[in-house]
Amino acid sequence: MTDRYQRFTRSGPGKFLVARLGLPNPEPLRRHDPGQPPLPGSAVVGAAKGGRLEESVRTILGRSGIEIDDPVGVGSPAGGRNVTVERPGALVFDATGIDTVDRLRELYDFFHPRIRGIAACGRVVVLGTTPDGSKDTIAQRALEGFTRSVGKELKRGATAQLVYVAPGAEDGIESTLRFLLSAKSAYVDAQVIRIGPGEVTRPANWLTPLDGKVALVTGGSRGIGASIADVLARDGAHVVVLDIPAQGGDLSEVANRVRGSSLQLDITAPEAPAKLVEYFTARHGGVDIVVHNAGITRDKTLAKMTEAQWDSVLSVNLASALRINDALLDGTLRPGGRIIGVSSIGGIAGNVGQTNYGASKAGVIGMVNAYAPLLAEQGGTINAVAPGFIETKMTAAMPLVIREAGRRMNSMSQGGLPVDVAETIAWYANPASGSVNGNVVRVCGQSLLGA
Ligand SMILES: NC(=O)c1ccc[n+]([C@@H]2O[C@H](COP(=O)([O-])OP(=O)(O)OC[C@H]3O[C@@H](n4cnc5c(N)ncnc54)[C@H](O)[C@@H]3O)[C@@H](O)[C@H]2O)c1
Repeated sequence: MTDRYQRFTRSGPGKFLVARLGLPNPEPLRRHDPGQPPLPGSAVVGAAKGGRLEESVRTILGRSGIEIDDPVGVGSPAGGRNVTVERPGALVFDATGIDTVDRLRELYDFFHPRIRGIAACGRVVVLGTTPDGSKDTIAQRALEGFTRSVGKELKRGATAQLVYVAPGAEDGIESTLRFLLSAKSAYVDAQVIRIGPGEVTRPANWLTPLDGKVALVTGGSRGIGASIADVLARDGAHVVVLDIPAQGGDLSEVANRVRGSSLQLDITAPEAPAKLVEYFTARHGGVDIVVHNAGITRDKTLAKMTEAQWDSVLSVNLASALRINDALLDGTLRPGGRIIGVSSIGGIAGNVGQTNYGASKAGVIGMVNAYAPLLAEQGGTINAVAPGFIETKMTAAMPLVIREAGRRMNSMSQGGLPVDVAETIAWYANPASGSVNGNVVRVCGQSLLGA
């Protein structure tokens, strides 16, 4: 998919006009490449006094091949003024020790002298303790506004995230840190991720964490679904891509490419859930990862919307996923299984002409909330991604002005790619993400729409 404006901004005249007129200047985002280091530079790690994660963070960064630069004084009351890194690839701050509003000043002391120097496509990660609504956690709640504002200030493709870690869930942070401190999270910005209790299995090989797993991707013949299939297969899974019979040709192509299998099925058919149970039981003895990606739009303002337009969107995007969950949860989804929904910022912020779509995609968030305790009982998880503007055939078909607005109205001034959604899904699917349950992470470059 083309973003002509972005290409223009890299040309000589484009650079000149962007600088003179203050036009949006979308940075070419650094994306995952196995031959490249995870970050565009070393990391600076700091901690507020009394924090409980700094040591784990250092160990995980070391294991991930991320160099840590260790300036004296970081997190100390002196504020770490001794800044030795010119262009840090990441600034990671353990704020779990902050227990009063006054001590929020430690955030300022750590970030103020360093934030300006962060590398293009660098990463800011703040770690906090999940606020429980008590007076003691007011300062922790404040971290959210801080991080989202940092996200808006960062330029040149750098991102900022907040990870809340519940007490006792310290061992569950590795897959999340690895994801956020890598190019895999290129278009995830200003998100709040909650890590709780859960069964965490460190993969034998972090390059292929899904070895031996079987995954189902609905709507897998093209667009985001095909990319999800690519990434899950790259990570070691056997992927079954499902789509409607009319997409049979493209579906076989994707299945061949990922050395997986194809399954032609309309998920709205009454017999679809039973067929899936039969298919996975007979061929694979169960399924480990289910990605509800199939989705449609039938846009019209509510006054003009037909019953069929309403019904079809709710049926494909939400009702089918619920029926399939219920069938697979009756013994076909293996213990430790993963269910992943695909919501949308349209389900968070709402859109003109999308009452049906918005309802269905908000319902996907409801699905995550409702099923999370059930999945936890089985050692599994359910989470969702909420993509913003992603460059696909669906968004290429939008009218020009709406398309351009969608592309630019985010902190990255550009659309995301299907692979950005796929990488986020692969992070949820990782066996080490067992403590990431009930989350909805937007893949939207910090879109101005919605929270
Ligand atoms: N593209 C974006 O910017 C964007 C933004 C937010 C959310 N999303 C969501 O991401 C998902 C993928 O979107 P996309 O842009 O790749 O769309 P797409 O139209 O390219 O792909 C959707 C796939 O779902 C399949 N499908 C539709 N109805 C089906 C059914 N009844 N049974 C089986 N398969 C069915 C389609 O045949 C198609 O292959 C959708 O859920 C969409 O709502 C996309």
